[in-house]
Amino acid sequence: MELTHRPRRLRRNPAIRRLVQETVLTTGDLIYPMFVMEGEGEPVPIPSMPGCFRYPLPRLVQEVKTVAELGIPGIALFPVIPEAKKDDQGSESFNPDGLVQRTVRAIKTVVPDILVFTDVALDPFTTHGHDGLVDDQGRILNDETVEVLVKMALSQAAAGADFVAPSDMMDGRVGAIRRALDQAGYTQVGILAYSAKYASAYYGPFRDALDSAPKFGDKKTYQMDPANAREALKEIDLDTIEGADIVMVKPALAYLDVVYRVKQHTHLPVAAYNVSGEYAMVKAAAQQGWIEEKKVVLETLTAMKRAGADMILTYHAVDVARWLRGMH
Ligand code: PBG
Repeated sequence: MELTHRPRRLRRNPAIRRLVQETVLTTGDLIYPMFVMEGEGEPVPIPSMPGCFRYPLPRLVQEVKTVAELGIPGIALFPVIPEAKKDDQGSESFNPDGLVQRTVRAIKTVVPDILVFTDVALDPFTTHGHDGLVDDQGRILNDETVEVLVKMALSQAAAGADFVAPSDMMDGRVGAIRRALDQAGYTQVGILAYSAKYASAYYGPFRDALDSAPKFGDKKTYQMDPANAREALKEIDLDTIEGADIVMVKPALAYLDVVYRVKQHTHLPVAAYNVSGEYAMVKAAAQQGWIEEKKVVLETLTAMKRAGADMILTYHAVDVARWLRGMH
């Protein structure tokens, strides 16, 4: 008798579907990116990122408590720097009493166990909005920038950051930061490297949030060409040799093939950044009633894990943690 293949036997009911499920999204996979600002008072909504806020420092610390209580293992911190504190050198970035440094100290006093990932890049601190120093021809200077990034990373480590996360895409910065951290005795501070970071149009809402859009040109001389995937593996290899603990692909959704390839290629944990533009698209469509937000978000983040992400930076983290607890 001829054999009939019936894959539907493994989809008949929720119990068997659970047993054969290959990928499970958990709260333990999530890192929540947060925006901190000077001052006190109420959080300020970010119009292009509904549900996300610029938190005044004391409010941010309160919110981090909630994030920790929900079981989210880490936050990624991004500062809103007032125009008056920006300069063309980004010198506020390594001020020991700068906004990021004060915020990390406050978090570590009140919520010591949550992991704090600090961003290492100059764009929130520079008047021109680029991630590096710029010469008089408008070129981004690599090695001079790396020197500033090293100072920035050291000041964040001194404040108590668990991981520093260079998102600037200068050559050689991971190695320079690792050496400097080790020499200063910060051997336990890790590096989450934005290794395959693309020159993407999906960062728009984030640049609104920080008021950090580049004032001239674009970031194509340092961030990667969206057309390239093999080049991502070169960046992963370099950051690995230079001492990265975790490598990242960013953005996530349009780059799941890159996440997959990177996962096949490396033994390091792989992070994916579900960026601001991906978030904004889901929120906008959900607000119109055109998609079901919860289902779309869970499906998307599960797809990122299926592609190979060990962890996901996502603005949906708090909602997801609540949904997974059955809270709404
Ligand atoms: C800057 C930085 C960016 C993001 C994280 N770090 C923007 C950029 O490179 O212009 C984007 C994150 C997001 O869009 O959610 N170093």
